[in-house]
Order: sequence, then C-alpha cells, then structure tokens
Amino acid sequence: MRMSYKIKKLNPYIPGEQPYKKMIKLNTNENPYPPTPKINNLLKTFNYYNLRLYPDPSTSKLRKAIAKIYNVKYEQIFIGNGSDEVLALAFMTFFNQKIPLIMPALTYSFYPVYCKLYNINYKTIPLQKNLEINLNKMNVRNGGVIFANPNTPTGHAISYIEVTKFLDLHKEYVVLIDEAYINFGSESAIPLIKKYKNLLIVNTLSKAYSLAGIRIGFAIGSTYLIKGLEKVKNSFNSYPVDVISELIAIEAIKDINYLKQNCNFIIYIREKLSKQLKDFGFTVLPSKANFILVKPKPKHKQKKPQTNITAKKMFSKLRKHGILLRYFNHIKKYIRISIGTIQQMNYLIETIKFIAKKID
Ligand SMILES: Cc1ncc(COP(=O)(O)O)c(C=O)c1O
Repeated sequence: MRMSYKIKKLNPYIPGEQPYKKMIKLNTNENPYPPTPKINNLLKTFNYYNLRLYPDPSTSKLRKAIAKIYNVKYEQIFIGNGSDEVLALAFMTFFNQKIPLIMPALTYSFYPVYCKLYNINYKTIPLQKNLEINLNKMNVRNGGVIFANPNTPTGHAISYIEVTKFLDLHKEYVVLIDEAYINFGSESAIPLIKKYKNLLIVNTLSKAYSLAGIRIGFAIGSTYLIKGLEKVKNSFNSYPVDVISELIAIEAIKDINYLKQNCNFIIYIREKLSKQLKDFGFTVLPSKANFILVKPKPKHKQKKPQTNITAKKMFSKLRKHGILLRYFNHIKKYIRISIGTIQQMNYLIETIKFIAKKID
C-alpha cells in the first residue's frame, strides 16, 4: 500500500499534550472557568430523540445569533467545526495564488501546515527583536496575508489603526485576521469588513467562551468571501456542526454579560501573574491574550550571581510537579503559560519559587 509522496513528507501540526493523569493544564489556552451556566439548563432539557436527524447543514440558527451580536448580515457569517476547520477551508479557498501568501515568522504553527497540505506558496516575515509583529514589514507584494491578532505564542496585539492602514494598502487579495484571542483586551477589526471586502475575520468559541470541547469556529466577511467558503465546505462536508454543539453555542453567544465577566477576570489574573513573574526576575512579554510568553530567569537573593534556569528545565521541573505548560522547540528561551484560575496561578508561583530555590 502506498501513501502519496506529498503526504509521506508532510509534518502535521502537533497539538498541545492532553495528559492522561490529572495535572494543572496550562498548555493549550483553554479557559479555566466553565461556560455560561445557561448551557447546563439547556442540556438537562435536551430531547435525545432529536439526534436521529442530520443537523442543519447551514447552522442557520447559530449564524443568525452571531450575525445579530456582531451587527452584520446572516450571509456574512460562516461556521465550522472549530476555527481550525474554518482556517483550513479559508486557506483552500483563497490562498492558492501565484504570488506567495505572507505570514509572520512566529505565529500559530498550523498556518504553514495548511500551506504544505494545499501546496500554497508562502513567505514568512521575521518579527521585531521584541517579538512583536511589524505590519510595515509585512507590506510586501502578496497573494494574501494571514496573521493572528493577538498573535500566538507572544500575545502581542496590533491596534485598529495599524490594521486599517495595512488594509488600505492591500485590497486585491484576502487578508485573514485570526482573532481567536481578541476578547482578552484588544480591538477587533470586524467593523472594517464593511469597507474592506477582502477582509476575513476568524474567531472561535474555544477560548473566551470556554467551549473548546464543542469545536465551534466562525468567519465574518463580505458575502462574496462567505460564498467562497460555503462552496468549498459543501464540496467537503455538508454537516460540520452537530445538533448539540449548535444549541450550546447559541446560548454562549447570547450571554454577552457572562463573556465579558469571564474575560475580564482572566485579564485580571493575567496582569497579576505577569507582575509576580516580573518581580521574580522573569522576562514577561506584554500580552492581550489568555496566555503569557515568559523567559525564566529567577533573580534569586541579592548580591549572589543570578540563577539561570533554562526554559526547558523549568518546563520539565514544573511538569514533575503536576503543572503542564507549553514549550516550543523553535523558541527555546521561552515557555508559554495559559492563564488558569487564581488558585492555579498561586500554586504555579509557589512551585516556581520552590524550584528556583532548589537549583540555587
Ligand atoms: C491563533 C489560533 N487560531 C486558531 C486556533 C484553533 O482554535 P479552535 O480550532 O479550537 O477553534 C488556535 C488554537 O489554539 C489558535 O491559537
């Protein structure tokens, strides 16, 4: 039996570890708090008899709910099985151009995987020294642009004004902004889709809505772009969103107060943790997401030479203490910490201090 040559050579995306034993899981930017409790009532009254039938192929009720919340037309919404699926379909629909797709050199590592899967020609643009995206540097001839705002794994956010200026210069091909982490304190570019017909915004219910378990992602853009996505989706899978997930997502989307409260609390914990780690001598990149990227360098007791512990060592020591962070081989000096509950963050700080003391 033979696999195609391309697939043989393909290196797939490696998701963050899902541990079998109980750990404090801070490696995949899940939300540590539950989704709106309205979902609990919904599930209690759900009639299992409804599962006989296929779901609505257009996920119309959820589309209507999202359109209402974001003040756009129903025809401007596309829904998929997680934003990973929406992104995959968008790459297939828009980015197979003669000129390369442009993306930051350090970003969500699924993007280059889609390019390789679909034979998309792409070019990466280095970040600045401080690991921020400089949109001016991405201002090159392209057959499409993708970036995450805020970016991952850095948490750096680009302002609405910078995004607007960039869009003014790039009107021919699709500019896709992945706003998976937008609700944790930065400005969405959604209002700009009225003016820029080539702008596609992708978002997810996995992070801010605490719903990674049901796999719902969506795109907002001009009706032309959404039609393109539908064409490809309907050539691939007619029913990507199941009956129960659609109902749960509607409850979550409608509960704006809960969303705001949940995200504000995560922001508060993020800022507190960042300060504590900085006070302990770590380098902490400013983040507008539900994670922080840090360089461990505990500045232990004055006058003594500083204790240098590598990111990899800190990662593996914390793992032994039951705390799972994310270490990336391509940014060796840093580790990424997803924001957990107050209690989890207190335990994390105590454990870091304990490890640093032992190493001294
Ligand atoms: C930037 C970014 N986009 C998209 C996703 C995928 O989210 P999901 O498929 O859960 O909607 C992630 C997941 O971590 C992400 O970090």
